[in-house]
Amino acid sequence: MKDFQGRIAFITGGASGAGFGQAEIFGGAGCRIVIADIRRDQLDKAVAALTAKGITAHGIQLDVTDRDAFARAADEVESHFGAPPQLLFNTAGVNSFGPVESSTYGDFDWLIGVNLGGVINGMVTFVPRMIAAGQPGHIVTTASVGGFHGSAAAAPYSAAKAAAINLMESYRMSLEKYDIGVSVLCPANIRSNIAEATTIRPASFGDTGYLVNEDTIASLHSIHIHGMDPLELARHVKRAVEENKLYIVPYPETKEQIAAHFNAILDAIPPMESDPEGARKRTEALQNWARDRAKMMTKGKDQG
Ligand code: NAI
Repeated sequence: MKDFQGRIAFITGGASGAGFGQAEIFGGAGCRIVIADIRRDQLDKAVAALTAKGITAHGIQLDVTDRDAFARAADEVESHFGAPPQLLFNTAGVNSFGPVESSTYGDFDWLIGVNLGGVINGMVTFVPRMIAAGQPGHIVTTASVGGFHGSAAAAPYSAAKAAAINLMESYRMSLEKYDIGVSVLCPANIRSNIAEATTIRPASFGDTGYLVNEDTIASLHSIHIHGMDPLELARHVKRAVEENKLYIVPYPETKEQIAAHFNAILDAIPPMESDPEGARKRTEALQNWARDRAKMMTKGKDQG
């Protein structure tokens, strides 16, 4: 997608950090912006700031873990702007650090609920509406470079981000035929307010097994203060949408670590010469299965 004029962009987590940067950049390019965020006070400030810049902006208070509220938000977009969004940004996210072995169910449920569940809810809510509208579109989910490998100190977060990356790869394959592009943004460090995420953790997600206090929050701020400016990050995102790129990883310092990780996986795979006949049989079986399955799917479609 290259022309953003008049397009409707729905941005979760749009009241702060990366999401607000996306609102400014895509709003500045002509999009009509809907920012959806759990924090009412930040939401109102963000809408006012966008409006002051001449951007058409509408705010919806939304907890991305709430599926009914997501459906209501989608209805609100259609009644407010007359159509579903052509651009969806699943950007809302939270983080909390602690040893994986201390993680409670509450830690897993909150971190996976927002960072993965929120993305799933965004996709299940909006993708059918975007397809039915028949317009070209684009979806950008914010994962993390942390999703490319495990982490002893942020395990539920990394697991959720890994699944979000994987899910976007799947959606990209399927949505191409509808002219809907899919990208996954994997930042390393953003100058944002994510250090404060634990302050908005709902009580319904139970107790944490991690140490969270003013000092731990301050130490996280000391990292994020050096992060990439959200506007700069959003410019990378805009370029990727224009060029329909799947992966957006604009952090050169991460290349070596990511390469080492994937090389370790490649190193675990024996060379073809070690079992050529077995490899041939297994590949053939998979190809036959895929061909038969494709026929079944087509038949089902014809019948349906
Ligand atoms: P931020 O805290 O500045 O912005 C996140 C926004 O999401 C906030 O406005 C917050 O209120 C909102 N939010 C949190 N829980 C929500 C919920 N349940 N429903 C709706 N909104 C909710 O943080 P930042 O850094 O801009 O985060 C944006 C995305 O970037 C997140 O997905 C995060 O995981 C990801 N990320 C951030 C990195 C960083 O260094 N800050 C690094 C890698 C990824």
